[in-house]
Amino acid sequence: MRLNKGIVQSAIEEFALSEDELKKVREDFKNEITLPPCPPSEKGALKSIPLRGGRPKGDGSSSLKMLPSFLSTPTGNESGTYLALDFGGTNVRVLKIKLLTKGEYEIVNKVAAPLIKAGEYDFIHKDATGEELFDFIAKLIKEAINGDKGEIRLGHTFSFPSEQLDLANAKLISWTKEFQTRNVEGENVTELLKAALKRANIENVIPVAVINDTVATLLTAAYADPNALIGSIYATGHNTCYLEKNYNGQPMILNLESGGFSKVPRNGFDLILDERSEKRGAQFLEKATSGRYVGELFSIAAAKALESDKLFDFSSVDLCDMITNNSTSHFIKLRTNYAPTPDEAELFAKLANNILTRSALLVTATFLGLYDRIGEENLSIGIDGSLYGKNPFLQEIISGELAKVSDKISAFKVEDGSAIGAAIAAAC
Ligand code: BGC
Repeated sequence: MRLNKGIVQSAIEEFALSEDELKKVREDFKNEITLPPCPPSEKGALKSIPLRGGRPKGDGSSSLKMLPSFLSTPTGNESGTYLALDFGGTNVRVLKIKLLTKGEYEIVNKVAAPLIKAGEYDFIHKDATGEELFDFIAKLIKEAINGDKGEIRLGHTFSFPSEQLDLANAKLISWTKEFQTRNVEGENVTELLKAALKRANIENVIPVAVINDTVATLLTAAYADPNALIGSIYATGHNTCYLEKNYNGQPMILNLESGGFSKVPRNGFDLILDERSEKRGAQFLEKATSGRYVGELFSIAAAKALESDKLFDFSSVDLCDMITNNSTSHFIKLRTNYAPTPDEAELFAKLANNILTRSALLVTATFLGLYDRIGEENLSIGIDGSLYGKNPFLQEIISGELAKVSDKISAFKVEDGSAIGAAIAAAC
């Protein structure tokens, strides 16, 4: 195998963003934040908001879906014991959570299982059906309640773009993050869950709320901190929501589905990644930033530089490790079988750094666009997700960029936001 260093060098440059490009992302993002048409005027009217496939503007020009959640932020007084179903990444989790008010909670019980087990099953593959997937989830719920017959309310964090029908019901608009399970798109996921609970003879679990994971994160953040107005996930996928204080006269958390933001500067590697993806021409911000894709961007550039027909299998975790633990030579050899010289390894490390830095800068530019939209006030952004949570250097980029703009905006890490938020939503 031969390394074309020039290709790595030009990839490094292509992943670097200029100040002007970032400014434009911030501005474009702000301009795309518009409220859904026909906001609710009377009780019950929310049910009839015509979302036009989730697009907010009459002219259909915004790439942000702006989905109403039917929830405002919590008071902090929510209490009681609930089941939380957290579905949205490669693991599904069911937790029994006791809310103790004012940001305090206790996890009473927790079960988790991967959605893919090599050689055994794959519930996100196109051969799997929604029925099989929800039967698997019902089995986990059974494990979590552990024979308990008392009635318990369940909050469901479902981390995909969904049109909310009311707090308890949501229809999946389309899968993201390369999920392909059949017979779920266009369906009411609460109905699918209820049918699976029935098949599993579980009668005492009552699904009462279904929410996006960004909404769950914001609920968790605001349960402890009333200044939290923005919730974001920076993990396998990426997305942000915020509290709109005046949604036809009432506060409402809106899920931006910002991973679908389309005005993102893209280079040749982004175009190849998009071509290879399940949903071509969609999720441009997510494809440039999230854990599901940053490793693949590196793989595409490395395959080109090493003139390989086969795509390598670098993950976001590899990239983060290369930067923080000086392990680039190890990962290049492991994934490509090519042993780089120290100089070459340094170049690859720079590439990993630029891919991840671009990711964090783009995410921050959208936060700033939202900040510009909300206006000057003290606001904090609660962020959950493995890419953010496990990588202090990404946290520093985001906090540093926010601090350059104002001391009124800050970001903080939310632990277990998806699960705790589901319990809070069930309590609301
Ligand atoms: C989904 C969002 C979700 C995000 C983070 C994206 O792919 O479209 O609904 O919030 O991933 O999990």
